[in-house]
Amino acid sequence: MNRFRRLRKTETLRRLVRETQLSADDFIQPFFVVEGRHKKEAIASMPGIYRYSVDEILKAVEAYQKVGGQAGLLFGLTNKKDSTASQAYAKNAIVPKAIKAIKKEFPDFLVITDVCLCAYTTHGHCGVVQNKYVDNDKTLPLLSKMALAHAEAGADIVAPSDMMDYRVAQIREDLDRKSFINTAIMSYAVKYSSAFYGPFRDAADSSPQFGDRKTYQMDPANKREALKEAQQDVAEGADLIMVKPALAYLDIISMLKQELTLPIVAYSVSGEYSMIKAAAQKKWINEKDIVLESLTSMKRAGADIIISYYAQDVLRRIK
Ligand code: PBG
Repeated sequence: MNRFRRLRKTETLRRLVRETQLSADDFIQPFFVVEGRHKKEAIASMPGIYRYSVDEILKAVEAYQKVGGQAGLLFGLTNKKDSTASQAYAKNAIVPKAIKAIKKEFPDFLVITDVCLCAYTTHGHCGVVQNKYVDNDKTLPLLSKMALAHAEAGADIVAPSDMMDYRVAQIREDLDRKSFINTAIMSYAVKYSSAFYGPFRDAADSSPQFGDRKTYQMDPANKREALKEAQQDVAEGADLIMVKPALAYLDIISMLKQELTLPIVAYSVSGEYSMIKAAAQKKWINEKDIVLESLTSMKRAGADIIISYYAQDVLRRIK
């Protein structure tokens, strides 16, 4: 007679038959970088996450490596915003500086950079604004310049998150022309226009100053469109395909895992982190268990790689 509880009897048995395992190799930890020295600024909406100056980020990366971390995703902040995001692609901008410092100190640490203009523009949109509309084709060369500045500084992977059409093609072409043939592109191919990014915009000071991002980020109601977006980015030369947010979009992760052969990345975004933190601070949930359960669900859905603000905490525990 079938008795399913037989294999659930002890922890050893449960471990033996467990289908999904989280591994240190799966994780990417986001890091926020700011100008200045000796800065480690707390972020009100994301307890436990900080904005680091370059000297401090080296300590943060070192601590992350100590628990087995091997990859970080860098976001830059600037106090010199303008309408064309010049600090996004300046060669001596904050992210290139951070990349160089990290690579000098930890050459094997995998450096991934977010490529997007929103934290560098006065209007807070992800591209060049004309008549209150984000102009796709005028934005492409700026994104490409930004990706190139990161590649020149030593980034291993550039990750465009702007949702402009054809940016992967443009970035690939320009990287190749400058002989950065081995700089990979992790495309935020499937990025929904989501309220789950709220805490991040506080962290990165990147909220749109008018309107919203619905003319470029995807409508959360759409699934087939995700396949269209992802297939297009594959055709343009993306090396990895990201779905973002993660927890509310497991069906999308699962579909893309079936349909594509590239590695699938799930970005468990700021709102996912902050909701757990807030409830945990009120002692309404068990933080450790809920974190592992949600991250496991992303992997079970098909994610090969997970970007999470909990990466460092989790690595400490699954070692
Ligand atoms: C930049 C960008 C955003 C996030 C990653 N890259 C914000 C946005 O699109 O508004 C969100 C990350 C998070 O919420 O953790 N465009």
